[in-house]
Amino acid sequence: MRRAAAQNTTDIRLDPAASFTVSSRVPAVNEALLQHTPDGFHVESVPAAAVAAALGTPCYVYSAGAIRDAYRRLDAAFGARPHAIHYALKANSTLALVRLLRGLGSRVDANSIGEVDVALRCGFQPRDIVFTGVGKSTAELTRAVTLDVHAINVESPGELDRLDQIAIAHGVRARVALRVNPDIDARSHPHISTGLRDNKFGVPIAIARTLIGDMARRRGLVPVGVHVHIGSQITTLDPLTRAAEAVAALAGELVADGVPLEQIDFGGGLGISYDGAPVPDAGDYVRALVAAAGAVPLVLAIEPGRSIVGPAGVLLATVVDVKHVAGGRRFVVLDAGMTELMRPALYGAFHRIEPAAPRPGAPELSDVVGPICESTDRFARDLPLTPVEVGDLMVIRDVGAYGAVLGSTYLRRPLPPEALVDGDAWSTVRRRQTLDDLLQLEC
Ligand SMILES: Cc1ncc(COP(=O)(O)O)c(C=O)c1O
Repeated sequence: MRRAAAQNTTDIRLDPAASFTVSSRVPAVNEALLQHTPDGFHVESVPAAAVAAALGTPCYVYSAGAIRDAYRRLDAAFGARPHAIHYALKANSTLALVRLLRGLGSRVDANSIGEVDVALRCGFQPRDIVFTGVGKSTAELTRAVTLDVHAINVESPGELDRLDQIAIAHGVRARVALRVNPDIDARSHPHISTGLRDNKFGVPIAIARTLIGDMARRRGLVPVGVHVHIGSQITTLDPLTRAAEAVAALAGELVADGVPLEQIDFGGGLGISYDGAPVPDAGDYVRALVAAAGAVPLVLAIEPGRSIVGPAGVLLATVVDVKHVAGGRRFVVLDAGMTELMRPALYGAFHRIEPAAPRPGAPELSDVVGPICESTDRFARDLPLTPVEVGDLMVIRDVGAYGAVLGSTYLRRPLPPEALVDGDAWSTVRRRQTLDDLLQLEC
């Protein structure tokens, strides 16, 4: 398989040399499902060019096989230990993907009431849903309480009070888990780190035991668990393990106190390899959580997003200009930009970018950019690219998570379509937005 050299060092990952634990590379099977062949780039058995010809570019294409594989690896690694995988909808909540995951036995983690409703529309029951979010409105809390979701992950003492009042007013008891902040550095990008004391998330772990003891005495609350999530794109096991140990120790104390908890929710955060560098394997990650939980007799829940859908998606784009400027810089301008894929502009993230059908010739250092009138609209700087011409199809890899969901319609650019491939079949799972769709909301 051809692989572009990893040039860009601005990805949200650490120098692997600084890692505590690195056990293996990104699962090879995902790579095998999205790869170059002598006939060009394929997603499973479907040529990328065929999807691009039918849908136009830019468009997202996902591999159902890669999603199944990633989910099953996590699931299998728990072995006989009672567990629950709550797929984090924030990573990608396109209905077809959510339904696919439901078919695999996944539950969901929703970060807004919109995501709760998406889950219900996909056939999930309220008891499949954990509802997280640092600033839930009264309307959101009320809906979650009346639905009786599996757990509302509470972020502050004030939110506990509000939830108690809402539940009492509705004559019910809300199922709550307390999100703790363990003050652990995820060693990820600061913009997606959530477990440090000065991040806005959770309550200090030092006060959690008292708060949960208090929750158990409230008329409107049933404490069902403890929750932690220290960030995303975490590429070393050490911070995840330390957070798991901290929250498991807390859960153990609460169980010993007689609080009838049901679960420990370890959140999400497992990183993926955007550039081919080693990342922890899903199995090692789960085994670390199981070890941290030890003999605490609770269901082990996780909320993975990126590690399930990230490697399963590509963004297809067409070269619209190739521009040489004084000083030798070559700009390869694509019809996809930060409106379709925000991650590079948002946090300097690296994505492999490759021609779908590479032309022969020596690689040339290129800046790969989008068409948006912002200088931050750049996917890669000094990327070695084989010769490209206007009209060539390009593949931007590992965009299944935090890709389509972060899209915007800036410059009145309609949202791109999405396709799901399964073996040698594919279907459009979201059509391209039209300008009429966009303008429909306006008077
Ligand atoms: C509360 C919560 N759970 C789960 C996730 C999913 O994380 P990831 O996609 O890194 O697995 C996130 C994302 O940051 C989150 O905020």
